Amino acid sequence: MAKIYGIVGHPVNKSLSPAMHNAAIKHLGLDAEYKLFDIDPSDTENLANFCYETDLNNIGGFSVTMPYKMAIMAYMDHYDPLAKIVGSVNTVVSEENKLIGYNTDAMGATQALRKKTDLIGKKALVMGAGGAARAIIYSLKEFGVDVHLFNRTMEKAEELADLWDLETIEYRMIPKADFDIIINATPVGSMPNTGESLLHSDQIPSHAVVMDIITNPLETQLLKEAKKAGATPISGERMLLWQAVYQFRLFFDKEPPVEVMEKALYEELKKRK
Ligand code: ATR
Repeated sequence: MAKIYGIVGHPVNKSLSPAMHNAAIKHLGLDAEYKLFDIDPSDTENLANFCYETDLNNIGGFSVTMPYKMAIMAYMDHYDPLAKIVGSVNTVVSEENKLIGYNTDAMGATQALRKKTDLIGKKALVMGAGGAARAIIYSLKEFGVDVHLFNRTMEKAEELADLWDLETIEYRMIPKADFDIIINATPVGSMPNTGESLLHSDQIPSHAVVMDIITNPLETQLLKEAKKAGATPISGERMLLWQAVYQFRLFFDKEPPVEVMEKALYEELKKRK
């Protein structure tokens, strides 16, 4: 019987994950299928029941997206240390009736960056201090990046900075800091407020690599500003690709066919235009 995989979230109908995972499953000839698991958040029992019944439903693993990346942690039998430190799980593997939680968002973000720039010794600005920011910051630190944190609520940035031995930066000091890497890990610029950007082109150095984690739209105002500044933009689908690649490896313990997944992702995006 084919093993079942899928994405848990709400809503999930716009998810790009099935296209990537199913293309890779087909390419490798695996006896598996990747589906959508839309779980209604109005009743917390729904998520619990889904987790308790994974074995019964022949589920080998699943991706986790909004709004469950933190809530799902309560149902894990084990976590990967990174998931625990970051405080969110985006990947669950079911093994012998046990659920193991991982976080591949962190590696996904750094891998997207590494395709454009070396990381060691680079000076990075991370904007935001939520779950997504924490995952990215942690992974950047592991690659030897000098991380500076800006957040709307500065106390939150300072708390995180104390905990993880980072620097915080005041907004007005950003242009002077001459960052090599700039990452937006806030929802600023996402639908429907697509005209908003935390930075203007004159605050972005031309040598910088600028990444936005927003996927709707892909070309955010921040990335337009980065282009205007002569900097290198990286849009959100690059992180999406790499988190799925690492996820696929955890699900199937096989080398993921990256190019197949990448092609499927861009074909799916083209269909939606
Ligand atoms: P996630 O876990 O998905 O990263 P989150 O925990 O809600 O989401 O965090 C969102 C981040 O975006 C926070 O850092 C938030 O700043 P605050 O700590 O001040 O709330 C930031 N954010 C959200 N809306 C923002 C806005 N309009 N301007 C600036 N920052 C914003």
